Amino acid sequence: MKKIEAFIRHEAFEPIRAELLDKGFPSLSISEAKGSGRQKGIVERYRGSTLTVNVRPKLKLEVVVEDKDKSLVVETILKHSRTGEVGDGKIFVLPVEEAIRIRTGEAGEPVLQAHEDPEAPA
Ligand SMILES: Nc1ncnc2c1ncn2[C@@H]1O[C@H](COP(=O)(O)OP(=O)(O)OP(=O)(O)O)[C@@H](O)[C@H]1O
Ligand SMILES: [Mg+2]
Repeated sequence: MKKIEAFIRHEAFEPIRAELLDKGFPSLSISEAKGSGRQKGIVERYRGSTLTVNVRPKLKLEVVVEDKDKSLVVETILKHSRTGEVGDGKIFVLPVEEAIRIRTGEAGEPVLQAHEDPEAPA
């Protein structure tokens, strides 16, 4: 199992979510992140004083999938998040040791993306 952890622009999330759902990957997490890449801070001016903004807001998207699905998810993220401008974000791929569905206690790959009742609330 792999976790794909992507720092993306907020605008990229909705098309990524829609395509992942369409391709059979409804399960994911997002959170607000702040971070910095390799550029130096951006200098902003406010009422005569200058302020250097060293961290920028990004969305962190996390998707855990079977090894065989890693490329599909990575490609989907790349497709919708690349504008070619600095700050497009970054994708990390991490190994995942275990996944457990709390409700049933079942473990391993079958719990990752299979939904018994797609109509039930998340
Ligand atoms: N090595 C890293 N470790 C943890 N988080 C990172 C790392 N690199 C980037 N990030 C996260 O990704 C966000 C976006 O990074 P960003 O796209 O600016 O990367 P970059 O390497 O500067 O590439 P670019 O030159 O395209 O801007 C950062 O704000 C930070 O939240
Ligand atoms: Mg950058």
